[in-house]
Amino acid sequence: MAKPTFFTAFLLISSLYISSYFSVSKAYNSAPSPPIVSGLSWTFYQKSCPKVESIIRKQLKKVFKEDIGQAAALLRLHFHDCFVQGCDASVLLDGSASGPSEQDAPPNLTLRGFKIINDLRALVHKACGRVVSCADIVALAARDSVYLSGGPDYDVPLGRRDGLSFATRDATLQNLPAPFDNASTILSSLATKKFDPTDVVALSGGHTIGISHCSSFTRRLYPTQDRSMDQTFAKNLKGVCPTQDSSNTTVLDIRSPNKFDNKYYVDLMNRQGLFTSDQDLYTNSRTRSIVTSFAVNQTLFFEKFVVAMVKMSQLSVLTGKTGEIRANCSVRNANNMPFLASVVEEEVGEKARAFSVVRRYRGTIVNPFSLACFTVHVVSCCRHHCCYYGLVPSQRSPQVRSRSPTLVEPFLPPCFRVLSLVATVVRVVNPSNIDVSHQVGLFDHAWGEPRVGLDSGPADGSPSGSPVS
Ligand code: HEM
Repeated sequence: MAKPTFFTAFLLISSLYISSYFSVSKAYNSAPSPPIVSGLSWTFYQKSCPKVESIIRKQLKKVFKEDIGQAAALLRLHFHDCFVQGCDASVLLDGSASGPSEQDAPPNLTLRGFKIINDLRALVHKACGRVVSCADIVALAARDSVYLSGGPDYDVPLGRRDGLSFATRDATLQNLPAPFDNASTILSSLATKKFDPTDVVALSGGHTIGISHCSSFTRRLYPTQDRSMDQTFAKNLKGVCPTQDSSNTTVLDIRSPNKFDNKYYVDLMNRQGLFTSDQDLYTNSRTRSIVTSFAVNQTLFFEKFVVAMVKMSQLSVLTGKTGEIRANCSVRNANNMPFLASVVEEEVGEKARAFSVVRRYRGTIVNPFSLACFTVHVVSCCRHHCCYYGLVPSQRSPQVRSRSPTLVEPFLPPCFRVLSLVATVVRVVNPSNIDVSHQVGLFDHAWGEPRVGLDSGPADGSPSGSPVS
């Protein structure tokens, strides 16, 4: 009798184990996901860039192997992007002559990870051409940051386009909650973006990884200590931040600072939350039970976190023909001629170069004017082994210079002057047609106008200096 009993118990336990494994791993996909906004899709790059997700994940695995702290940086970048003016990568834009950028607003001064995003952009654009937006790259990088640091894996709807402008300092301050806000302020501020209390508590769980500067929480320590803070925790924080304006940093989740898990909620239950905005979630009667439920059930936290993140990742997105696909995540295309030129240089070899030209003109080729540009481009670039910015001898990159002379060169000046004139007309008549006017703009800059940056570029021909404005 002993044998069947043992066998039955074994079967029962193993089937329970297996079924719980599947219910956990499927949980994030089976949980009802929020509706997708029109213009986004789960399969957006299936044809144009099928490998985008694997390229990003592979590269981030390398980055995080060096420094897992960068995962937190990328997660926060996505949050700050989406909350201000929508997920349009406006947070990546550098300031310009027209004024300070979103990046210059106080909550964004401690953002990190911009270079990682631009490196991902370079890899993706090298493989597929300029088809994937910086906003989508940020959303995917945030997802991979969560997953690669131990959190749930989930699908991200794609098809966002990049914004043409950044938000003002005031708009940035208005849209990002402050660490000294209490739970009720955070709840009402996030309710305006259609987040319910469960979303708020789940999103705050992003603080399970990463670091903070002392200045974000020292008002809880000085001049008087916040009574909702655990004594030993406060004492240790005073050691890290001896004065109110000390510039040190400390971790957000003392139990497992680099692991995406539910320990952040355990911290809150032990009065070890770093910010008022964190700790007060356990004090407030509307959110306390949600904190407890996540502290005791990590699967539930992961499930709700995914729902809230997918919701967040769709805030005021630009889709279809709005916005643009930036060639450099830090600069909008119109201010970015030298960088656009470098996109061609990134694709090594004549074949890749030819493809890149075709890709750029695909879609606008029906336009007779684009067709003219395209023809000149193909003739001059592909057959005579120079790229468009190599047409002017003094502006060629060293590699291109060594392949001179180009046979069509003598005929180009009048041709480009005519094109340049038409380009101006196209821009005036139809300023919203960014693609056509943009491509034409390349010719503008390839001939006649000074090319800031490239002229004084480094020996490898890559652009430097300030962008053409
Ligand atoms: C609910 C309101 C929120 C407030 C008030 C808030 C505030 C802050 C502050 C003050 C910092 C530290 C900045 C510093 O001093 O360096 C920080 C860091 C961080 N936040 Fe939030 N945050 C909020 C929501 C979120 C959300 C929704 C996410 C993501 C889902 C998130 C992810 C992060 C991460 C990962 C870090 C660490 C960044 C790093 O290590 O560079 N936060 N947050």
